[in-house]
Amino acid sequence: MKTTILSINKDHPDREKLQQAAHIIKTGGLVAFPTETVYGLGANALDGSAVKKIFMAKGRPSDNPLIVHVSSRDMVLPLVASMPAKAERLMDTFWPGPLTIVLRKSRLVPRETTAGLRTVAVRMPVHPVALGLIEAANTPIAAPSANISGRPSPTKAEHVIADLKGRIALILANGPCEIGLESTVIDLTGSTPLILRPGKITVEQVARVIGKVEIYKPKKNEGKVKSPGMKYTHYAPEAKVIVVKGSQQGMDLEVRRLKRIFVSRKKKVAIIYTKALTKFAKDLFSRFRTYDKQGYDIIIVQAVPAERLGLAIMNRLEKAATEIIHLQKDKKKEK
Ligand code: TXA
Ligand code: MG
Repeated sequence: MKTTILSINKDHPDREKLQQAAHIIKTGGLVAFPTETVYGLGANALDGSAVKKIFMAKGRPSDNPLIVHVSSRDMVLPLVASMPAKAERLMDTFWPGPLTIVLRKSRLVPRETTAGLRTVAVRMPVHPVALGLIEAANTPIAAPSANISGRPSPTKAEHVIADLKGRIALILANGPCEIGLESTVIDLTGSTPLILRPGKITVEQVARVIGKVEIYKPKKNEGKVKSPGMKYTHYAPEAKVIVVKGSQQGMDLEVRRLKRIFVSRKKKVAIIYTKALTKFAKDLFSRFRTYDKQGYDIIIVQAVPAERLGLAIMNRLEKAATEIIHLQKDKKKEK
């Protein structure tokens, strides 16, 4: 398939380009587009056969449901069976923005979109190109991250091109995504709101608006996972990722020790130290991809405190890790 690549202005997206993209969505095709978190790969969320093409293009397991993107609060109502007051409050506070809310679905949403679940995940992005595309298509757009399944999420147009060129009709190309990590996902269908995936919008921020929330932790060997996306390896570059956890001094020493060992074995070693968390989040996936391109064998990353944005960063790092070294407890965990 020939993939058209259109660069598009962020603050004043060209109407004709949005119309061209919207036409593809309306006629059952796939369009990759920028959001404030990562690039998304979109199809008409109400068209089961269009949504199936997303799974094909990404090589995504068909039991992993998609997030439905809307451009207005009115667009949500037909998609859900009920609208809890807590959902309204979260939307008032955080939409448009990087918060995805899981609600009971209506019959309008096809099973391809929700992978057979009785719930639907909805999000209103703040990126003008994403909003403009949904508005122009005049339909909610189902969109996972626009990468081949299992690879790091795409935060630059070049990542989307590398993964999906030849597999989809159109890529709307804009600059790097501001946040760089996927949205926070919260499930409001149970008795206590449950954070399924940490993100830029923190647990504390959410709790301030709706009170008590829990953070979902998959138990080992759990058969049925709450968010099917959580059981797959994710975000992983081809290089081996080693995450080192411990005191700053301990991590510094351990990183140097590991580097010496691997270099003596003729391995190409990259090290990621963390200072500013916002920038770390924004660049993480992109650095994974760059190191792969440059042929690194090993990426050693120093852990950050698992709180606020750090919780989201550690969630992604632990999923990408081939090995996590806990220094304090002097415990070595192989994955
Ligand atoms: O920031 C984002 O959320 C990006 C941009 C494109 O919006 N999208 C994204 O989609 O990260 P994806 O498919 O890569 O991740 C969606 C996550 C998966 O872990 C999936 O299992 C979960 O959301 N999810 C989707 N629908 C769900 C549902 N009904 N119940 C529970 N989890 C759901
Ligand atoms: Mg993804």
